[in-house]
Amino acid sequence: MDLSLIDLPSEVVRTERLVLRPYRPEDADDVHRACQDDEIQRWITAIDVPYTAESARAWVEDIAPGERLEHRGMPVAIEADGEFVGAGGVHFVPGRLGPEIGYWIAPWARRKGYAAEAAHALGGWALGLGAPRVHLYADVRNEASQAVARRAGFRQEGVVRSSLGYRDGTRGDAALFSRLPAD
Ligand SMILES: CC(C)(COP(=O)(O)OP(=O)(O)OC[C@H]1O[C@@H](n2cnc3c(N)ncnc32)[C@H](O)[C@@H]1OP(=O)(O)O)[C@@H](O)C(=O)NCCC(=O)NCCS
Repeated sequence: MDLSLIDLPSEVVRTERLVLRPYRPEDADDVHRACQDDEIQRWITAIDVPYTAESARAWVEDIAPGERLEHRGMPVAIEADGEFVGAGGVHFVPGRLGPEIGYWIAPWARRKGYAAEAAHALGGWALGLGAPRVHLYADVRNEASQAVARRAGFRQEGVVRSSLGYRDGTRGDAALFSRLPAD
């Protein structure tokens, strides 16, 4: 990927209905509220549980902007009609799999196609900057996330066994999806 073509800290991606933009300090309350959701806490094992106001503040003010500044990834707040509806990102993991896409949608904005629209746009953004492929992982039991991946133009490549670590110390399998420029 050629990041010299863009200014990553301020990069914004637009779709028909969504604006995928850098976080702002004012997003903290919405992020905090959304991340109380059981589904987000179940499937996104990287977030703090309990998810406190300080967790949200640290994410929107320090961690997410830091990823952009240090060229480790492009976390985005997803906005529809001027309102915060979810989160996504492209993570620039080194190695042969290419950049990794992630997403969650706030419980109050689900089943409107926002996750698929955002994932499609983030994949297209990375491919447009020259990535030869993009990928994402979804827990094999997370039917909703796998449906999002397919709707966003990704194809399942296989199952990466025991690659997910849960909070209780057990492990699970992830479905690996990818999208290529020709898909
Ligand atoms: C999974 C999640 C991102 C879906 O967001 P969404 O905006 O509601 O999804 P979309 O409206 O874009 O739906 C895309 C597809 O997924 C399907 N889908 C969405 N939620 C679903 C659910 N709970 N059960 C079954 N299918 C579901 C839709 O029907 C649609 O399918 P289609 O293409 O066949 O029409 C959202 O439920 C969420 O944030 N879950 C918790 C966090 C999470 O699992 N993140 C992904 C981690 S890999």
